[in-house]
Amino acid sequence: MDEKQAFKRTKRFKSVKASWAISAVLITALYVIILQLRKLESDIKGEQPSLSSFKLHSIYRHGTSDHSYMQVMEIDDQILEGGEARFSEFSSVTNDPDDSDHEMWTSSSKYATKNPLDYEFGLSFQPQVLKRMRYRDPQFVESYMNFAHENPHMASQVHLDWIDETVLVPNISDKQTVVSLALMSSDAYVRLPHTGDWRNLTGPWNHSVNSGHGWNSDGLRGHIFVNQEQDIVVIAVKGTSAQVLAGSGEDETTVNDKINDNLLFSCCCARISYLWTTVCDCYLKSYTCDETCLERELRRKDRYYKAVLNIYKEVAQKFPSSTIWVTGHSLGGSLASLLGRTYGLPVVAFEAAGELLATRRLHLPMPPGYPNYLEGVWHFGNTGDPIFMGTCNGASSSCSIGGYAMETSCHTGKECIYDVVKEKGWHVNLLNHRIHKVIDEVLEKYDEPARCIPPGPCHDCFNWKYVREVRSSSSPPTMTTTSSTITTITSEPTITSSCVGRNWYGWCTQY
Ligand SMILES: *[C@@H]1O[C@H](CO)[C@@H](O)[C@H](O)[C@H]1NC(C)=O
Ligand SMILES: *[C@@H]1O[C@H](CO)[C@@H](O)[C@H](O)[C@H]1NC(C)=O
Ligand SMILES: *[C@@H]1O[C@H](CO)[C@@H](O)[C@H](O)[C@H]1NC(C)=O
Repeated sequence: MDEKQAFKRTKRFKSVKASWAISAVLITALYVIILQLRKLESDIKGEQPSLSSFKLHSIYRHGTSDHSYMQVMEIDDQILEGGEARFSEFSSVTNDPDDSDHEMWTSSSKYATKNPLDYEFGLSFQPQVLKRMRYRDPQFVESYMNFAHENPHMASQVHLDWIDETVLVPNISDKQTVVSLALMSSDAYVRLPHTGDWRNLTGPWNHSVNSGHGWNSDGLRGHIFVNQEQDIVVIAVKGTSAQVLAGSGEDETTVNDKINDNLLFSCCCARISYLWTTVCDCYLKSYTCDETCLERELRRKDRYYKAVLNIYKEVAQKFPSSTIWVTGHSLGGSLASLLGRTYGLPVVAFEAAGELLATRRLHLPMPPGYPNYLEGVWHFGNTGDPIFMGTCNGASSSCSIGGYAMETSCHTGKECIYDVVKEKGWHVNLLNHRIHKVIDEVLEKYDEPARCIPPGPCHDCFNWKYVREVRSSSSPPTMTTTSSTITTITSEPTITSSCVGRNWYGWCTQY
């Protein structure tokens, strides 16, 4: 044990330490290089989820006059050409930046296009568990709703079969996806070339009613966008076309839009004061309204809700295996939500007025317990928009002055709210309702889409009393077994030959 040996040992120890240090440095360097490569790779990819491409496939229009009709226009090369001509004609007329009322498409250069009909929309999606009815066949769903409408007190006893299903839904935390859906909603406002290419689906096309009203008079429109690879179909429902509320200027559907707005979003037929023209006759006395009458009005076949269901039925038949999403702006957004809730479809609505009350009045099937986290309905809106916030209803509000009774504020599903009042110092103004302003100055300006959360407690029309008219003529339907869970219906009562009335699941109620 001399000094020499001890020295050797320290030397060896030192060299071991050095080699450790060197390998540590190497590993770190390698790691850094890998990270850099990864970053480079994701930079090239744009660090975004891969987007699927959607294109306009066809347009449905549904009349809402007494002589109802539905037509479809499939988008082919000829129509695309016509669209380009029409669009350039319109854009040249409205190049004036102050004339944004008539703007047909967003002014953002990022989405510049010669022809909105030919635009390619990029969306990303993700799987999500949604609670929906096991049987969603239109015939089944509609017969259930007829039953619920006829027997509102018994509807709650009917046990519907709800299941948790994994469905592809739009990735609403992806900015590009949200903007694309908003663009689709605004596309639904774009006026189309007047071509003879509308194909009759239901007929006959009543010329005496429709001639002279322009090509798209008086009705509801649904634009159908399709992604082939993932087999996803988006229905964009066209909203209100009034000067005060519209996404883009006055259209031919203004009168009908106002009636439907006032029916869906007012407490009682837009009976604001005795000065108002009501849209239905359900007002009884001070702050008392006939609920049965209201529900009947909403379900009339010349109303937009019926029209949007019919459009869905056509689309579902045409794309039987596709995932169907619904979107829309304003009245279109609310109708999208009503349709989505009827059939358990994912919905993204923009600046829609509160539609919770309408879902109740229409007796839309509600999942038991109303679980927010399994909802597939997302309401995007900004705090500067009085219609979305439900504050456009004082006597001096611009809605009232325009003849709109927008009294509701409660939404279903989740709310994704951009607080432009607090964060950008905006004032509450109807201009903040417009789809182009929303796209260009809200959705585009924020780095990320607003976070979607379940709305807080909300109660519309709390100062109103709703009563059901006592029906004397028809006796309430009788159920032979008054069990509260009517799930296991295996066989009917024996007398089947003389059955004159059946309820929604085919059980005989009248003999
Ligand atoms: C959804 O979008 C966000 C933001 O772009 C992204 O980080 C996330 O990976 C996307 N999810 C899917 C499943 O694509
Ligand atoms: C639609 O129906 C009307 C009336 O029945 C008819 O005049 C018209 O030509 C039809 N249009 C097409 C494209 O078939
Ligand atoms: C078309 O509309 C007119 C006017 O409302 C009506 O008199 C006529 O019966 C309608 N025709 C058809 C075929 O529905």
